Amino acid sequence: QRNVARIVADGARLLGPASGDQACGEIGDGRMLEPEELRDELIAHFQPKCLAGRRVLITAGPTFEAIDPVRGITNLSSGKMGFAIARAAAEAGAVVTLVAGPVHLPTPRGVARIDVRSAEQMLAAVLPLARSHDIFVATAAVADWRPAATSEHKIKKDGTGATPALAFVENPDILATVAHLPVAERPWCVGFAAESHDVVRHARDKRLRKGIPLIVANHGPSTFGRDDNALVLVDADGERELPRSDKLRLARALVAEIAARAPRAARTVA
Ligand code: C5P
Repeated sequence: QRNVARIVADGARLLGPASGDQACGEIGDGRMLEPEELRDELIAHFQPKCLAGRRVLITAGPTFEAIDPVRGITNLSSGKMGFAIARAAAEAGAVVTLVAGPVHLPTPRGVARIDVRSAEQMLAAVLPLARSHDIFVATAAVADWRPAATSEHKIKKDGTGATPALAFVENPDILATVAHLPVAERPWCVGFAAESHDVVRHARDKRLRKGIPLIVANHGPSTFGRDDNALVLVDADGERELPRSDKLRLARALVAEIAARAPRAARTVA
């Protein structure tokens, strides 16, 4: 402990220790980090700290809207872009909170993660956090509609060939809700627009409709679930393309663009 204190006082950065099974048979702190974790920590160390001291809230993944206890409506979002942005923001020195729909992805190191299922749960998780974050990046593919009622029991076939009638209600728009909070409580908002055609035109309209300073357009069908993507940043000054690349590289470029645009300490947070 004395040596560790000395090393840290000398300005070195300690990686670990990790916790778990020890060679001596005990369980607890003292393991070496996994090689992949050491690699990622080193890579992170050398990223520009353009978001140092800033708090970034991110939504990612799809939502799942239950029809009954075993069925529901969801979409093909994998969460990969949002998780890459969470990692890139943490690498850039931000304090990151990631609100994730149902996805099968590991939490990036150093990121606080909250798992939710439905759009309503996502909104309930995001709203109380919005005022304590400086930047909000909404990458989640939130379901536009949910079943008007969720059946308590599994809906059964009745043998007549009759199909259940499903009625829908519109989900709350999480991004628009955050973007319309009072100025003092509102983080700087970034939206995503996944479109299948006229990507940039729809993104321009969507940016104005949602009242946000920056929207990131991408082609939904050619990116959902993939490891690469191509982005077009749309703000009040026009468009800027980030050409096709792997999602982590794009996320790092996007984080640099956000850092350059988002006003620093624009508001005081309680
Ligand atoms: O309206 P649309 O779904 O195309 O807008 C996409 C953007 O809005 C994304 O940033 C998405 O995360 C966000 N959104 C949201 N809540 C919704 C629908 C979309 O936060 N209910």
